[in-house]
Amino acid sequence: MTESVEDLARRFADFARDHGAGAPLYGQLATYAAAHPEVSAMLLQAPPTQRLPVLMFAAVHDLLLVGAGPELARFYPNLTDPPASGDVGPVFGRFLAEHGEQVAATLATRHTQTNEIGRCAVLLPALATVADEVGEIAMLDVGASAGLTLLLDRYAYRYSPGGDVGGVGGLGDEGGVPLLLCGTRGAVPVPRRRPRLSARLGLDAQPVDLQDPAQARWLAACLWPDQPERFARLRGALKLARAQPVEVRAGDAVTDLASCVDLIAVAGHPVVTTTWVLNYLSTERQRAFVAELDRLGAGRDLTWLSLESPVLTPGLGFLERADEDGSVLHQVSWRSGRRQTERLAVCHPHGAWMHWGA
Ligand SMILES: C[S@@+](CC[C@H](N)C(=O)[O-])C[C@H]1O[C@@H](n2cnc3c(N)ncnc32)[C@H](O)[C@@H]1O
Repeated sequence: MTESVEDLARRFADFARDHGAGAPLYGQLATYAAAHPEVSAMLLQAPPTQRLPVLMFAAVHDLLLVGAGPELARFYPNLTDPPASGDVGPVFGRFLAEHGEQVAATLATRHTQTNEIGRCAVLLPALATVADEVGEIAMLDVGASAGLTLLLDRYAYRYSPGGDVGGVGGLGDEGGVPLLLCGTRGAVPVPRRRPRLSARLGLDAQPVDLQDPAQARWLAACLWPDQPERFARLRGALKLARAQPVEVRAGDAVTDLASCVDLIAVAGHPVVTTTWVLNYLSTERQRAFVAELDRLGAGRDLTWLSLESPVLTPGLGFLERADEDGSVLHQVSWRSGRRQTERLAVCHPHGAWMHWGA
């Protein structure tokens, strides 16, 4: 696709319009970029599919995280408390003029990459319910990124009812692990004890190696500074993961699924999890993913917990309502060759709340 600088400027303007209210800092940066062609044009350094404002913001943020640009860092709520107020645009412009080469190198080589452990708060009640049914669980997280979701039995949780009566309770903090807060509606089956994981494995097209400080830092660089709570939980999860490393294999969600399931299934009932991954696959590959699970489920008991956006994953067959644009948790179970699909909850994309039974 041939894109003009005007196209890219429009992309920044759209970002400012869509996200400026919830993310004021990035809204201001996007407004500045939209009005300055030399800034919008920098995105041309990225491969066509990656020419997104968030990639540019992550490239800048990555440099701030290593101490470059203290003048700009004063405006970042995760780096300065309280952050500076006023017009950040010209400061952003000066930073780019000074660090343009480094930003361009990042744009050319990286794509945005996150690992949001807040989603574990949504998975946990479902996983614990499966554990009550089948006993020990062998978990395979597909699209695992750095593998942080695979530590879901190690985090602390607090579930608090929101608008109406909801599930309440949690699992305690066992020594400084990240505490995940989740607002609930509906009868969330909040577990009283941690599910037992007898095996855990990740599969990802591009696993994040946490032993490499630059890769670990990039996970933080891709978070939005206007959401400071996400940094604290990422820091906590990284600490845990470094102390208790989990394996994430490089491979494809469809092609390498069977070999990974085979590997873990010797240790317990295989539960495959996908959280905001399958939207990266084409509709055809989404169908192939489900077909592969069906094939495996015909031969052994298996569970799939899917936390995805139905509208972005039409190939999964979960799109029941045309206006379904949120995150939805589904459980698909294969027992003695019989497949059963249950819609469990509607959720916040990062797990801040969930509505069980919605
Ligand atoms: C938005 S991240 C979500 C990561 C994690 N599941 C979470 O919820 O934080 C999407 C992940 O899917 C991975 N991915 C994309 N396409 C894939 C594929 N075909 N096979 C395996 N992993 C893939 C990416 O590398 C990335 O780590």
